[in-house]
Amino acid sequence: MTSPTASTGPTAESSEVGRVVIVGAGDLGARIGRLLRSAGRAVDGWKRDPSTLPEGFGRVAADLTRGSELPELPEDTAAVVFCPTAGARSAARYRAVYRDGLRALLERADRLGGRSGRRVRMVLVSSTAVHGGEEGLIDETSPLHPNTPTGEVLAETEQLLRSDDSVESVVLRLAGIYGPGRRRLLDQVLGGGFGAAAELTGTAQASTAGSLGTDPWKISNRIHVDDAAAAAAAMVTASERPSVLLGVDELPVPVGMVHDWLADELGLPRPWPHLIPEGVALDQVLHTGREDPLWSATPAHGRAVNGAALHRFLGGLRHPDFRSGYAPMLEKPAADD
Ligand SMILES: NC(=O)c1ccc[n+]([C@@H]2O[C@H](COP(=O)([O-])OP(=O)(O)OC[C@H]3O[C@@H](n4cnc5c(N)ncnc54)[C@H](OP(=O)(O)O)[C@@H]3O)[C@@H](O)[C@H]2O)c1
Repeated sequence: MTSPTASTGPTAESSEVGRVVIVGAGDLGARIGRLLRSAGRAVDGWKRDPSTLPEGFGRVAADLTRGSELPELPEDTAAVVFCPTAGARSAARYRAVYRDGLRALLERADRLGGRSGRRVRMVLVSSTAVHGGEEGLIDETSPLHPNTPTGEVLAETEQLLRSDDSVESVVLRLAGIYGPGRRRLLDQVLGGGFGAAAELTGTAQASTAGSLGTDPWKISNRIHVDDAAAAAAAMVTASERPSVLLGVDELPVPVGMVHDWLADELGLPRPWPHLIPEGVALDQVLHTGREDPLWSATPAHGRAVNGAALHRFLGGLRHPDFRSGYAPMLEKPAADD
């Protein structure tokens, strides 16, 4: 099904600075592509069903699990953004889509380099899951330490990219993406169900249970989808290439604090009534969090991802923390998100 002639439409009109090919152009990829198009770049989207791509994108049918059938990169390709989802949380599926899919793309980038002398910039959208086993504050200098089979495949895929000199390699490791249509924490709060099992005494032992299996003291890291897209687009266009950036906002916090803040905003009872001492404003605690992301005097634990390098690179985020990002989502009915 996927061959150089499999495009369902003409590739987007070329631009002087070269075409950007977005491989696995779903929600995030389409946002990245729109930003690049508004910056004057020609953008092609590759996916199995390209009919869903936005107007103005070159539409190319491509299945990463059928590497030998993938089209060649267009001659004017300057950059590739690799951002598919595996579709299933199995190591085998991750290998097929990420590692083997990227390998097939690298072969095409290498051939393009041979034909045109062009060195393609390859931006891999990875995940902070490659740091899964870490505790404490991590940044771009932290070693990879995946603790799941899928995280291991992502780490292997990053390594594959880094070891290929025929492309300019760039890795963007995203924390959990939230934003329109991505309402997991919000829906947890709206759905309730934390209940009596969520009652905490403030001790580490008592904090590890919840009726949803949620540990409210586990530090959560996230990035708004608009900032994730802006980060990837900037990694395509920047003249100075960052080799790796962690994509996360400015406020890693225990997930229970996000639940409690959302409940306050929605006028619902706090799911974790003992997380914040009585009489203390949640915003005050969150401010303290900026200075001390691990809340050393509390049972907070897990990894806090330091996104300072990305924030400098972008000159600031549109949504520096979850309060800014969730606020518009609280104003709209779910169906409009
Ligand atoms: N969600 C998070 O919290 C999170 C966290 C860290 C990193 N990320 C990364 O963010 C990236 C994008 O996420 P997203 O939310 O934009 O996902 P998405 O909306 O599901 O888009 C991914 C696209 O990949 C395409 N795809 C799937 N299998 C493919 C295959 N075999 N060959 C070619 N294309 C394929 C799908 O289109 P077709 O079905 O038409 O092929 C889909 O539209 C991913 O790289 C993901 O690992 C996400």
